Amino acid sequence: MTTSRRARFSRALWGPVLGASILAGGRLCAAPSGAVAELGRKIFFDPGLSQPAGTSCASCHDPRHGFSGLNGSLVGLPRGSRPGHFARRTSPSLLYLRYVPQFRFFQEGDDPALQPFGGFFWDGRSDSIRALVRQPLTNPDEMNNRDEAEVAVHLARAPYAADFAGVFGPVLDDPAATMEAIGRAIEAYLTAADMAPFSSRFDDFVRGHATLTVEEREGLRLFKDPAKGNCASCHTVNEGAGDPAASLFTDFGYDAVAVPRNELIHAATRPDLGLCERAATETPSGEATYCINFRTPSLRNVALRGAFMHNGAFSSLREVVAFYASRDTDPRRWYRSGVRFDSVPRKFRGQVNVTAAPYGRRPGDPPALTDVEIDAIVAFLQTLTDAPGSTVEP
Ligand code: HEC
Ligand code: HEC
Repeated sequence: MTTSRRARFSRALWGPVLGASILAGGRLCAAPSGAVAELGRKIFFDPGLSQPAGTSCASCHDPRHGFSGLNGSLVGLPRGSRPGHFARRTSPSLLYLRYVPQFRFFQEGDDPALQPFGGFFWDGRSDSIRALVRQPLTNPDEMNNRDEAEVAVHLARAPYAADFAGVFGPVLDDPAATMEAIGRAIEAYLTAADMAPFSSRFDDFVRGHATLTVEEREGLRLFKDPAKGNCASCHTVNEGAGDPAASLFTDFGYDAVAVPRNELIHAATRPDLGLCERAATETPSGEATYCINFRTPSLRNVALRGAFMHNGAFSSLREVVAFYASRDTDPRRWYRSGVRFDSVPRKFRGQVNVTAAPYGRRPGDPPALTDVEIDAIVAFLQTLTDAPGSTVEP
């Protein structure tokens, strides 16, 4: 994959694509009735659907953390329903999911390389919420149900089982149909308008209803400046648009950042290759060139996260921004063995993005951002937190 594309990724391309994705989202869940979304909300917060009971979707996607979370884990990856079991990656925020487009490739200009885009999960391996709910429910390191039948048994005991049958009919003795109904309900809940509240101070600023402090405005400037943070080349922002939805803080593209190892995970885990692990037959991304790429996350509500990056390597937002500033100028600070990009398998190290700012400097050069500039970007990112109580909780 070429990495220079980031600097060329233009809004002219982005605009229509985003429009199309909203239409696709609309088709997927044609006018979710309030009853379906309400059931989805109950399922989402139900701790009785895990094995053993006690872990709900909200345990790892906690409203207090922007619908992300660690479920009490101290190792940067969320804890599953069984002691000592942890999800393989960090849990993304589930706000603003109605804007996630289906996975696809596109060709940019005369660049022969196909650019990957969209899809759910850090590696884009799922194209709909409806289809993906099966994964956390049956993943042994997450909610640990043996199979769909066990999920159906748990659901039949839920206090809302009668409502469920009222909305979806008598599906509870058909595990596959039950799973499909759960998917529809959760999809309606997670894609409802109030799950994209646009209620942050930044959003009020975009609407002209609030101001940012001098430091926050400086952070926004550095975030956009192609010679400084250049963050906006991937984490899309368009504060002049008047419409907060023009600033989703992701272009849904993929990039090879080479985040450091998560030093708290001691077990010998298989390397996480991201996008090239995705198994899809219609739009395959298994070629080596797509390895170690992960989907660019939205930065909305990022300050509420307990762990950052796909592997939870960082526990503070400031550390993340400092990493961007000095990954290339002070690699020993980030790669403990002293070898640059030691966190990714040797054969893929040449694929790490080293071209566009904030990258592209040499060891010993001044970092891309000074400490004061890092603080300003962090201050700006803190304006992206939605007002508490924006979403409906139990
Ligand atoms: C043990 C923690 C845990 C639990 C419980 C959990 N999740 Fe997740 N969730 C994750 C992790 C980790 C990921 C990222 C996985 C990946 O990218 O491979 C994720 C990703 C997702 C995504 C994709 C978001 C995106 O931006 O692509 C959705 C949607 C989601 N979860 C919904 C749910 C639902 C619905 C439930 C309950 C049925 C649930 N999760 C339960 C940890 C959890
Ligand atoms: C070339 C594209 C690109 C640029 C430029 C970029 N990012 Fe990212 N960002 C990503 C990707 C991809 C990830 C996920 C990386 C991973 O986990 O492997 C990410 C992750 C993050 C995260 C962690 C979010 C989470 O949910 O854990 C933060 C915070 C962040 N970026 C902030 C910034 C800031 C601040 C800048 C500018 C200094 C910046 N990014 C520049 C692509 C980019």
